[in-house]
Amino acid sequence: MPAQINPSILAADFSRLADEAAAVTGADWLHVDVMDNHFVPNLTLGLPVVESLARAVETPLDCHLMIEDPDRWAPTYVEAGAGSVTFHAEAAAAPVRLAREIRAQGARACLALKPGTPVESYADLFPELDMLLVMTVEPGFGGQEFLDIMLPKIRRARQLIDRHGLRMGLQVDGGVSASTIERCAEAGADVFVAGSAVYGAEDPAAAVAALRAQAER
Ligand code: DX5
Ligand code: ZN
Repeated sequence: MPAQINPSILAADFSRLADEAAAVTGADWLHVDVMDNHFVPNLTLGLPVVESLARAVETPLDCHLMIEDPDRWAPTYVEAGAGSVTFHAEAAAAPVRLAREIRAQGARACLALKPGTPVESYADLFPELDMLLVMTVEPGFGGQEFLDIMLPKIRRARQLIDRHGLRMGLQVDGGVSASTIERCAEAGADVFVAGSAVYGAEDPAAAVAALRAQAER
């Protein structure tokens, strides 16, 4: 199964973002964590940084919006240059309308679920989505420990996607590393976000290649 490896720039040096983004040759998408200090207890970056990055970097951007009111803000991230926008089920007032709006703009729509949000509640929405994100940590910070208790949820998500006969991606984000990625892949994930496992490595591009090899094993 071909795997996607999406480095999270949250673990990169923010003073050299374009260089850090270019350093992960072989990455499929660049994962950009947008946090508003309301939906999660942390604050990162917003539209101006995404706009600049989109201009400076060849790898397409997937903006993971950990913000309130994604119904209002997600479309502006597509306008800023994101090729994919991930919004949280817990924050969206009208996820179907929002997914349709994002897709109508020509970007990919992805729905993210915090650890406590059941995947079954959202299965009927899958045909409206390009990707589902099962969070494997509580969103808000990089470098957290992978939550093993999410593996059954990844398995159930995979079953639901296959049962619908859909081609959507199944992404995991949080604590994904050389020691956890195989478990995620075995459970059915095929899109992998990795922050500290990539940017904490001496050679980020080699880390991307190694994670991909492990995920496809
Ligand atoms: C956490 C973010 C993740 C984070 C992952 O809320 O959504 O994308 O950057 O970082 P690692 O891979 O270090 O857990
Ligand atoms: Zn993320």
